[in-house]
Amino acid sequence: MTDILSIIKPSVRRVEAYTLKQLAAPIKINQNENPFDMPEAIKAAVYRRMNEKAWSRYPAFVPSPLISKLADFSGWRSDGVLVGNGSNELIEAILMVTVEKGKRVLVPQPTFTLYKLLTIILGGECEEVFLTHALEFDIQKLLEATRQADLTIICSPNNPTGSLITLSDLTSILKVTAGLVIVDEAYHEFSRQSVVPLLNDFENLIVLRTFSKAMAMAGLRVGYLLAHPRLVQEIAKAKLPYNLNIFSIAAAETAIEHFHLLQPQIDLIIQERERLYGQMQNVPGLKAFPSQANFIAFETSLDPMDVFKALYADGILVRDVSRYPMLDKFLRVSVGSPAENDRFLASLRKILKGAETFAYQPAD
Ligand SMILES: Cc1ncc(COP(=O)(O)O)c(C=O)c1O
Repeated sequence: MTDILSIIKPSVRRVEAYTLKQLAAPIKINQNENPFDMPEAIKAAVYRRMNEKAWSRYPAFVPSPLISKLADFSGWRSDGVLVGNGSNELIEAILMVTVEKGKRVLVPQPTFTLYKLLTIILGGECEEVFLTHALEFDIQKLLEATRQADLTIICSPNNPTGSLITLSDLTSILKVTAGLVIVDEAYHEFSRQSVVPLLNDFENLIVLRTFSKAMAMAGLRVGYLLAHPRLVQEIAKAKLPYNLNIFSIAAAETAIEHFHLLQPQIDLIIQERERLYGQMQNVPGLKAFPSQANFIAFETSLDPMDVFKALYADGILVRDVSRYPMLDKFLRVSVGSPAENDRFLASLRKILKGAETFAYQPAD
């Protein structure tokens, strides 16, 4: 009998799966979630709506009320909105309708793992341009590489580094590229910047957003995409019918209607990020990088796995990002509640006490 795995595409067998070790910890600051959870008033309104609905019926084929709320919320036209079961589903849908053998996908690195993984699974070629030593987008190199790319995927603010692309740099890329540019704005609320206004001028721009981060709904799986309607119609062919369930639709609609209750949480997360970053500057043996998202990437002069384990022993779970390109000495911490951030800082100071002062040496 032939090996059953010989049926699996070689491109799939070559890639490593995207996984996450599900460790439990009292302080969970590893997945860039909103540490405050959905405000009770929003939860209560969603439960009321769900009580009035028949659970036995399929959701609407196209959830038009949610789509028009998303259009108003984001300042874009409703025929240019597509909703997904998390933005992951929409990343997959975009790549499914564009990537095949010979297609070139440009990604800055390090970045969110899924872009490269799905590109390779679909048979495309992933071209990578590294961030600068300061972990900023290398615009000159991107401008050069984007000319030949079918797709350019920019995560801004970038996971896991927190780097932000400026509107003028993105405009330059949109002008010179031969292909589509996807901007993943999963963390845009924390940067107080959005590239959405550029949709009016550039038909080749696709913006991705999620309810999993600032909107406190990671467990409910809602994402959306904003693009020119002609593109949306094609990408929609690759998403599954009824991809959003009635609970998630009701929750997303309610969250938008009550956004004024979420905004103070977002403001506090931004304030805490700045406090955390400031305090991390004073910890010996550690270099934190500025971030426009709700997380901070930091380099340690100790082995990052030793720091990870010591934090975990203290009940604190952060993200090990040391396998990402350029980040072999790095961990990433999500901004938690003020109390969680205090615990994290205290633990970090204890672990790194006496560590060699970190001398940042750009390796050329
Ligand atoms: C940059 C980026 N895009 C997309 C996602 C996935 O979001 P969702 O929960 O909407 O699928 C994440 C989640 O970590 C992310 O960091």
